[in-house]
Amino acid sequence: MVPLTFLWITFYSLHFIGQCTLQVSRIVGLPSETVAQSIRAVPVHRKHESPDFQLFVNSLLDDIHADANFTVQEKAQKLASKLNCDTVISEIGADRGSVTFKVHRDLLIKTVLHKITQDGPRFGLNTDLLSRIPKGKTIVEFSSPNIAKKFHVGHLRSTIIGNYIANLKEAIGNEVIRINYLGDWGLQFGLLGTGFSKFGSEKELRDNPLEHLFNVYVKINEAAEQDENLRSSAMEFLKRLEGGEAQAVSLWTHFRELSIQEYAKIYKRLGIHFEEYSGESFYREKSQHVLQMLRNRGVLKEMENGTGVVDLSEGLSTYKTVVRSDGTSLYITRDVAAAIDRIEKYDFDEMIYVTDKSQQTHFQHLFKILQILGEKHSIRCHHVPFGRVQGMKTRKGDVIFLEDVLDEARTRMLQNMAATSTSKHLEDPARTAEKIGAAALIVQDFKGPLMSDYHFDWDRALQSFGDTGVFLQYTHARLHSLQGLWETKDLTDFNISCLQEPSVISTLQHLLRYDEVILQCLDDYQPRYLVNYLMGLGHLANVAHRALPVKGSTSEVAQARLLFFNNVQMVLANTMKLLGITPVTNM
Ligand code: ARG
Repeated sequence: MVPLTFLWITFYSLHFIGQCTLQVSRIVGLPSETVAQSIRAVPVHRKHESPDFQLFVNSLLDDIHADANFTVQEKAQKLASKLNCDTVISEIGADRGSVTFKVHRDLLIKTVLHKITQDGPRFGLNTDLLSRIPKGKTIVEFSSPNIAKKFHVGHLRSTIIGNYIANLKEAIGNEVIRINYLGDWGLQFGLLGTGFSKFGSEKELRDNPLEHLFNVYVKINEAAEQDENLRSSAMEFLKRLEGGEAQAVSLWTHFRELSIQEYAKIYKRLGIHFEEYSGESFYREKSQHVLQMLRNRGVLKEMENGTGVVDLSEGLSTYKTVVRSDGTSLYITRDVAAAIDRIEKYDFDEMIYVTDKSQQTHFQHLFKILQILGEKHSIRCHHVPFGRVQGMKTRKGDVIFLEDVLDEARTRMLQNMAATSTSKHLEDPARTAEKIGAAALIVQDFKGPLMSDYHFDWDRALQSFGDTGVFLQYTHARLHSLQGLWETKDLTDFNISCLQEPSVISTLQHLLRYDEVILQCLDDYQPRYLVNYLMGLGHLANVAHRALPVKGSTSEVAQARLLFFNNVQMVLANTMKLLGITPVTNM
């Protein structure tokens, strides 16, 4: 066996890219950082063996060595011919305008596996490429359902997308504050206040707050349509609430607290938490302050009908109403107040709002008003919009509560599992089914561009083959079950010559791209890059698992393969967690 630790001292800090860069930098006379930026790991090809890295000659030599007489391919060939193989690089070539590098196989195997063992959950996150990104404090505002109203699929999407963005930011070292900005103010509370005295039940409220409040809301809405008195009593209740009248406020607080407790339970099922439960109600009074600020800047126009508007015509060619004729605030005003509050409280480096695309103009308006108010933080605010989902129904009918979706995913998955014999021995099948079901929902949702609308299909999402969350969970569980085969678990001592098979090499090559994919996700927050990457890893791992049996191999081979699979399973688990999936170890 090779004494690993010794070799490590030699090679540990020597990143492959660094080595490719060194010679190139000398020859073309550019700083190594510049050269490094033009080098990428080569995506693994299913059919043929690929080199490990490629240097894009065009992006590197464009201005400096502009030579119209040569094609890019010729430039690549010329450069390649001047480079020499060494202790790290075993082959240099030129392919479609890039210089290609192949690292010595032993070194590739050893370095990647060692890195995973050493970095564990931080594998692929401590790299040069990612260290160049500025770090800081990130607020992610997501989920943000409306109390007593439907938790629609848009809220589900916001919940899982926001959680993934928060995880991603945290993974690269940002301080992350997750905020849930509840729709906890407005006319619905006037109606609820009135409705509760008519249709409400304390017991039902305690037993099932979200559903009960929703039912009361639906009933009082119907009743109020027919009954003028109910409508005015709802307005009356809202006035009392707005005026801070103790009894009204206490009822409202009660509704809000019970709802939050209930939501927190459901988020927990998804492994999601929030640092802050905020809400529109917090910004009722502060909105008045915002209006004053707008007035002071001379940008609040009082209209004849009594409303107040802000002129956003420069840039957005519109006027935005920020105050009603009765002096009460609007959704936008409360959002301005909330943003200013967060600037003061957190002095964040970036703030990301996650909602469906119907709110795109709302956020444009919000950021513009912040800019008009002279808030330099306005340029640090971003909106991540997403498209609509059609067809997500449960057996009960349309989705009304998040809980229904999770229950449905769990029930369906339990049925699928019961049909396969392997799942019979599970300790807590419902818990396992829940995690697999959630994975299925997340993967289905993250597969395409966020902005696209898509049609949800339970059967497709819950398939165990193809690019689904179920497939990922199976793959993870399969690799995890190899744990039982270790004789003595030693993650540093293995024979490299036992891991020369193509299926190992292509899996390791795929792992070389980890940080590049993370970087791509950070650029526009699209989870599909990571999902694609993860599916690729899953498929490669399965091919290797079929090709490289552990049982029946000599103990030296078994040890090497176990170490390899153990490491792949760790990376799979890390990446699934980034997406918000809880990996299962048995299914
Ligand atoms: N509660 C809102 C809705 O359901 C979403 C809130 C989004 N966040 C915000 N700061 N406006 O439509």
